[in-house]
Amino acid sequence: MNICCIGAGYVGGPTMAMIALKCPDITVTVVDMNAGRIAAWNSDKLPIFEPGLDDVVKQARGRNLFFSTDVAGQIKKSDIIFVAVNTPTKTYGVGAGRAADLRYIESVARTIAEHAESGKIIVEKSTIPVKTADAIKAIVASNSKGHKFEVLSNPEFLAEGTAIQDLTAPDRVLIGGERTPGGEKAIEALASVYARWVPRDRIITTNLWSSELSKLVANAFLAQRISSINSISALCDATGADVDEVANAIGKDSRIGPKFLKASVGFGGSCFQKDILNLTYLCESFGLPEVAAYWNSVVGLNDWQKSRFAARIVKALFNTVADKKIAVLGFAFKKDTNDTRESAAINVCRDLLSEHAKVCVYDPKVPADEIKVDVLGKGVENARLSIAKDAYEACAGAHAIAIVTEWDEFKTLDYAKIYAGMPKPAFLFDGRNIVNLAALRQIGFTASGIGKPA
Ligand code: NAD
Ligand code: UGA
Repeated sequence: MNICCIGAGYVGGPTMAMIALKCPDITVTVVDMNAGRIAAWNSDKLPIFEPGLDDVVKQARGRNLFFSTDVAGQIKKSDIIFVAVNTPTKTYGVGAGRAADLRYIESVARTIAEHAESGKIIVEKSTIPVKTADAIKAIVASNSKGHKFEVLSNPEFLAEGTAIQDLTAPDRVLIGGERTPGGEKAIEALASVYARWVPRDRIITTNLWSSELSKLVANAFLAQRISSINSISALCDATGADVDEVANAIGKDSRIGPKFLKASVGFGGSCFQKDILNLTYLCESFGLPEVAAYWNSVVGLNDWQKSRFAARIVKALFNTVADKKIAVLGFAFKKDTNDTRESAAINVCRDLLSEHAKVCVYDPKVPADEIKVDVLGKGVENARLSIAKDAYEACAGAHAIAIVTEWDEFKTLDYAKIYAGMPKPAFLFDGRNIVNLAALRQIGFTASGIGKPA
């Protein structure tokens, strides 16, 4: 069997590497139009940082895992074609700022129809609005020289930073397809690939629309939990309750459960906001404005939480941060990834710069250039933004430290040494609740967390 995946990003690369690792008899080729990205996948420095990924790629690459820019050639050869291209929020025209931009999906469907010389199973791996399979079917059917295509939905639930773990032992694999003999056969062909390492009872099959919708709903529910606990963190700040104690107390209820209740500076990442906006746009398109408003509030609360953090820093520093150095520790949207898309750090840096602070950022995995482009935009310079090579350099001479990403190394810094090099009073704002506030206060810091008693 030959499998190809169009899109060599955070999803296409790791998922295909795992399939190749677990199925040595299947040839898996990941293709992308971005030649630089493909070259990186073929090098010793992979284009994405993900714990355990290097090992998996090393084992399979050159054996039955390949990375190539030959999209047309791989379409011809493959029995199953995964589509893992980006589906960003539309920035123009109808639905701008909310609807998913499906131009990459459509372009891939047209490319498949153009180059396929036999019938194929097309698998939607990208996150897309409900009914996208209909559009793909219509495009390939009207351009396909009579070949029979089956379209399946197989959304990806991996989280960055734990992708290899999530792919090795997924909670579930979801496959949606048409309940016709051809559809059932395609579902079974894909299920039998995953069944090499995923127990059959974790492989769920549904109709196409349930599968497409479940992906948006899963992300909406996850993001909703974070906004819920973040809303409570504000109440904790106001009352002296401790948000971690509250999360622990409610999480013991098995109906609520303990996971995904960590209050923070706000969720980031390429998907939560994009997928909720996509869901709310869908609701509005189907005449359900009340449902749209309900889910929209999850994003609204998150925006507020991000701005609340920066505002709090300014207020604590006697209502002015102008010309004060502020160390921002962490820039990635979560630990163990170099991905910065929609990271709360971007908002925090911009808010502080708009107050004329001197912002000095350190992140162990994100390159300096990328931090500057994310905060300022391409080609824009601002002398107030600098990038440090380690946390100590970032904090030297800073009036305040803001922990924005929960990298483990920030838990074990020599804070006494850092304190000695800061003007007093020295402030620390823990946007992830990872450091011991009592110990820091003992050193002399004016230290606060999110939803933590003063
Ligand atoms: P990405 O931007 O990292 O990668 C997408 C790749 O597709 C890019 O390298 C791009 O060059 C390529 N591409 C676009 N159009 C192409 C075309 N016509 N031909 C060849 N290559 C093309 O995106 P990602 O983070 O991997 O996300 C992909 C999809 O998976 C999105 O729909 C996303 O919502 C979904 N998803 C992402 C995650 C995640 O953790 N990042 C998790 C689950 C689902
Ligand atoms: C999320 C989902 O967890 C995946 O299941 C999904 O496949 C993926 O989106 C996607 O569709 O792209 P990801 O965004 O990679 O994965 O990472 P998460 O662990 O979900 O974290 C998202 C954001 O929420 C991060 O900024 C994280 O720091 C924040 N978060 C997470 C909290 O603030 N509190 C928590 O309790 C959990």
